[in-house]
Amino acid sequence: MSIIPTQVSTADWPLFPRKVKFEWSTSPLHWIPQSPFASHIVNQFGFSLVRGEYFFCRTFNKALPYIRDEKLRKDVETFIRQEAIHAQAHKESIEQYLQQYGVDIQDQYAKAQYLFDHILGDKPFGVALPKFLEKQWLFARVGIVAAAEHYTCAIGQYVLDHTHWQERGADPVVSDLFTWHCAEEVEHRTVAYDLYQHLSGNYLMRAGIMVGVLPILTYIVAAGTAKLASTDTTIPKSKTKLTNWKFWKEWQKAHQQHLAPGPIWFLTTGIRFFKPSYHPYHEGSTEQAVAYINQSPAVLAYQQINDVNKPVMMS
Ligand SMILES: [Fe+2]
Ligand SMILES: [Fe+2]
Repeated sequence: MSIIPTQVSTADWPLFPRKVKFEWSTSPLHWIPQSPFASHIVNQFGFSLVRGEYFFCRTFNKALPYIRDEKLRKDVETFIRQEAIHAQAHKESIEQYLQQYGVDIQDQYAKAQYLFDHILGDKPFGVALPKFLEKQWLFARVGIVAAAEHYTCAIGQYVLDHTHWQERGADPVVSDLFTWHCAEEVEHRTVAYDLYQHLSGNYLMRAGIMVGVLPILTYIVAAGTAKLASTDTTIPKSKTKLTNWKFWKEWQKAHQQHLAPGPIWFLTTGIRFFKPSYHPYHEGSTEQAVAYINQSPAVLAYQQINDVNKPVMMS
C-alpha cells in the first residue's frame, strides 16, 4: 500500500536550485541518431518550456502571499528558482543551437506566448477580471501548473527509465539538457500539487482543468513536432501533417523505440490525474532523479567553475 506524508508539503527530501553550464557549439539538429523525427519531438518542448516555465514562475510568485505553511513556502521558492533556470537553459539552447539550423523561432515562440501570456495572463484574452474573481483565477492557474507538472514529472520519469539517449549515441549536450531538466521535474514533482491542495484542493476544478490540459498539451506537442519536421528535408511531407495518419504512426514509432513518449502515452498519462486518490509523490523516483543530477555534465561544469552545487546525498 502506498503511503503519502500527511504534512502540507509532501516533499520529504531536500530541494535545491542548481545552475548549469552547457557548451553549445557542435550539437547536430538530428541529435538522436536513430530518428530525426524523435529529435524534433524532443526539441519542440523547448519553446513551450521557455514561455510555460516563466508562466509557472509568475503564477507561483503571485501565490506566495497566500501560503500559510513555512516548508511549502520554501519549496515553492525553490521551485520558482529551478523553473527559471530551466527556462533560461532552454532559451539559450534555442538561441545558440536550434537557431543555427534555420528553425522558425519567432513562429514557435508566438504560439507559446499567446497561450501563456495572453490566454493565461492576469487578464485572460485581454479582459480585466472583477476583483472577486482574481483570487479564483490565480488558484485555477495554480491548478493548471499542477496538471502540467503531472506531465513534466511523468515525462521526466519516462526519460529516466527508458530513453537512455546518451548510451545510445545521442548528442551528449542535448541529452544532458533534457535529462537534467527531466530529473529536476521528478525531484520537484510534489510542489505544484501540494500548493494547489493547500490553496484550493477542489477535486472538480482539478479534474476540469485536466479535461482541458490533456488535449491542449497533446496538441501542442503534435503541432510543434510537425512544425519542426516540416522544415526538415530528410522527412517526407506526409509525416509532417497532423491530418495524415503517417505523422501519428511516426510519433508512435518513436515511442516504441523508447526515444520519446508517444501520442497514446500522452492520453493515458493524463487519465491518472483524474483518480481522486492521485498524488504525484508516487509518480516518480527521487533517488533516480538525484542520481542523474549528481552526475549531469552541465551541473558539474557549473560546480567546477564556481565551486557550488555540491552533490546531494540521499539519506
Ligand atoms: Fe522545469
Ligand atoms: Fe516543473
